[in-house]
Amino acid sequence: MFTHSEINLPLLRQRAFNLRWAALPDGVIPLTAADPDFPCAPQISEAIIKYSKDRYFSYAPAEGYAFFKEAVAKFFIEKRNVLTQPSLVFPTDSAAHGIHAVCKAYLQKGDEAIVFNPVDFLFKYSVEAVGGNAISFPVPLHPNEGIDFNLLENLITDRTKLICLCNPLNPTGKLFSAAELMVLGNLAIKHNLLILSDEIWSDIVFEPNQFVSIASLNSNIQAHTITVTGYSKSYGLAGLRVGAVIAPNESHFQQILQAAEQPSTIHGCNVLGQVAVATALNDCEDWLFEFIKHLTQMRSLLVDGLNTFPGFHCELPQACYLAFPSISASGKNASEWHQLFLEKAKVAVVPGLPQWFGDRASGHLRLSFATSKETIEEALFRMQKVVLI
Ligand SMILES: Cc1ncc(COP(=O)(O)O)c(C=O)c1O
Repeated sequence: MFTHSEINLPLLRQRAFNLRWAALPDGVIPLTAADPDFPCAPQISEAIIKYSKDRYFSYAPAEGYAFFKEAVAKFFIEKRNVLTQPSLVFPTDSAAHGIHAVCKAYLQKGDEAIVFNPVDFLFKYSVEAVGGNAISFPVPLHPNEGIDFNLLENLITDRTKLICLCNPLNPTGKLFSAAELMVLGNLAIKHNLLILSDEIWSDIVFEPNQFVSIASLNSNIQAHTITVTGYSKSYGLAGLRVGAVIAPNESHFQQILQAAEQPSTIHGCNVLGQVAVATALNDCEDWLFEFIKHLTQMRSLLVDGLNTFPGFHCELPQACYLAFPSISASGKNASEWHQLFLEKAKVAVVPGLPQWFGDRASGHLRLSFATSKETIEEALFRMQKVVLI
């Protein structure tokens, strides 16, 4: 499993968009969007085929099929120690839409949401899309540095409604400790704020690090937490556009479901996505275990390789299959390296530009390592030639 021969490059060149194989000139290796090069677990395809053979794709319930809600609730209860139940879970058409729906549910025009910096662009985008103001909260660039919670508290005003927590943190690979989450949760209680906890990366955690779900800390913090998660990263299901929202109670559940525009059928999670996720959670634990084992090796390979480049410095991420090297001592900025690597090495990386991760990502690149050993070795070989010119 997770060998180079398992990767079907001709198919990726037809199907993998969003800065990846199908969106780039032939011969370019994309270490860009966080979407694995490997096919999904065979059990997921089999479940979709089985479901499809019945030839019924009728409207699904706005709040999701029972089999989906039960699988996700079971996962949160058993694997994340979150005391939830199926009736508080609903599927969305992607984690991205879940984030957007939460922002829409709780932010009026001019309201403020705290957004980490650096972090994936989706938070700022969603806050602003509903008329809110994204208040930038600087978080450490190194995964094992602590958080300045005094600074966070100073950013809270009477317009603040939401704290957007991305745990694990894309792009730095930081995992928040239980102690850090406790402080964050207590701040939310003290100022009567909601926490949007995006946990899409929470399966991709490297030993000995451990993921803690903020909603598992205590019932008071859970009452202030909306959890959003997705299946694009750990199970390679990005194109199925499926995610999940876990609300703390029935009234929040209804408010977010309405904001997600699922009862009106304007939005809704496709049935095959729900089948795929239920299968992933119920039947694919061994596959995920092997995937993480492979990723642990790819993490060392890529990070060690990047650290041999003069002026590059890369920390080991605690979680996420993303390397986030600092290139500020290299004499070139992120856009220049991005351009050079693309043109001369035929390797695509994500430059640390404000539109992707916020302005604190400047001086960094982001590279995904959800691919084969051979692909990473080839990308490092090609980049090294450019770096050493
Ligand atoms: C932190 C974070 N949240 C959400 C998403 C979007 O996930 P989905 O494909 O389910 O919309 C991503 C994808 O890069 C992500 O990194």
